[in-house]
Amino acid sequence: MKSNPYLSGNFGPVTEEVTAFDLQVTGQIPAELNGRYLRNGPNPITADPETYNWFLGDGMVHGVRLQGGQAEWYRNRWVKSPDSFAPNTNVIGLNGRTLALVEAGAPPVELGFELDTIGTSDFGGTLSHGYTAHPKVDPVSGELHAASYIWSLPNVIEYTVTGPDGTVIRREEIPVPGSPMVHDISITESSAVFYDLPVVFNLEDAMAGIGLPYAWSNDYGARVGVLPRQGTGTDQLRWFEVNPCYVFHAVNAHDAVGANGQQLIVLDVIRFDRVFDQSRLGPDECIPYLWRWTLDLQSGRVTEEQLSDQPIEFPRVDERLVGKKHRYGWATSVYSGTGEPGAYGIFDGASIACYDFQTDSLTRHEMGPGRFAGEAVFVPASETASERDGYLMSMVYDTGTDRSDLVILDAQDLLAEPLATIHLPQRVPFGFHGNYVAE
Ligand SMILES: [Fe+2]
Repeated sequence: MKSNPYLSGNFGPVTEEVTAFDLQVTGQIPAELNGRYLRNGPNPITADPETYNWFLGDGMVHGVRLQGGQAEWYRNRWVKSPDSFAPNTNVIGLNGRTLALVEAGAPPVELGFELDTIGTSDFGGTLSHGYTAHPKVDPVSGELHAASYIWSLPNVIEYTVTGPDGTVIRREEIPVPGSPMVHDISITESSAVFYDLPVVFNLEDAMAGIGLPYAWSNDYGARVGVLPRQGTGTDQLRWFEVNPCYVFHAVNAHDAVGANGQQLIVLDVIRFDRVFDQSRLGPDECIPYLWRWTLDLQSGRVTEEQLSDQPIEFPRVDERLVGKKHRYGWATSVYSGTGEPGAYGIFDGASIACYDFQTDSLTRHEMGPGRFAGEAVFVPASETASERDGYLMSMVYDTGTDRSDLVILDAQDLLAEPLATIHLPQRVPFGFHGNYVAE
């Protein structure tokens, strides 16, 4: 039987739901961290190695509750969904609820405080077609901006704005030439930005039963759409052509003013030359890099610039700066920066990186031999802390112990030893996204 890298090593699923209390800690957990660090990822109950795509495993959320400098508990629970795919991509706190999220039509699943499944959510009857794994929360209004899609609603990216109470208050259909896979959205203070890129629904694949019926298209083209956030309707929607590529994740976006006084929109993105062309099991046929796209709203031109030659993915910023100009971006290194596939293929996080957009420099906290980080979530030290004053939290797999740790780094002193390493009772398979949900 053919081996599948996304079922091997620490990509492979764990088989038990574990509950553990009073976890062992090396170092000191900052006492102001009272809340849960939660992370979602694929943990298939069954999978065919011939066809299993990393994006398709049943979701499992791992969580650690921090209280007063202690790690009170660890829990991992499958996300359970009675009637559709169990969301495996992100987990957020929203208005006191915990929601597991995925794109492409499956509804969010609400989890309890201790991560047991409560049931699917349609945002109180206001969500018609599933959601996205990557809503962007406007830090001023608390509104969630989302780009969603489902194959049964072709030629449309569904744009929703959800109020902080968790009900949809605006819905627009963004017209597109086909059925693209849309993983993320960007917002600025003025605009919402949509990524219409050439990974598209493939009916032949769907009919043939291929698990992920989305594939690279040489014909589809690539563009980003800009819609002013004020007003209703899509009559002011504008499209900007970019070179064909794929972007799963935008770092952040902001409005700016050009040399001639013209309005610009600056998009910082993690760009793959292509995905899902030759390799259909995961996004692993090209190396992702940090790029900046500057959209000139006067001329209609786009300037595309690669900012770093260091391969990174899973970008995050201080969420208080979503839609505003940021100085720092946080990410996880991939390919170990060597140009060679690492021990676990492309997504081995041998380091956590900070990109300084002011000095155009990248610094890395190396996780150490045989240790591999996932996405690093930035948590400000307080509501009024400056942009870099806070912590980075990431699940780190240790090949030596075959277990994982929740590692907390000082974001201002990235090269220092971790502030705290919370030892978990089992490994946490490489997965996708998480968040710290403060209490
Ligand atoms: Fe993602």
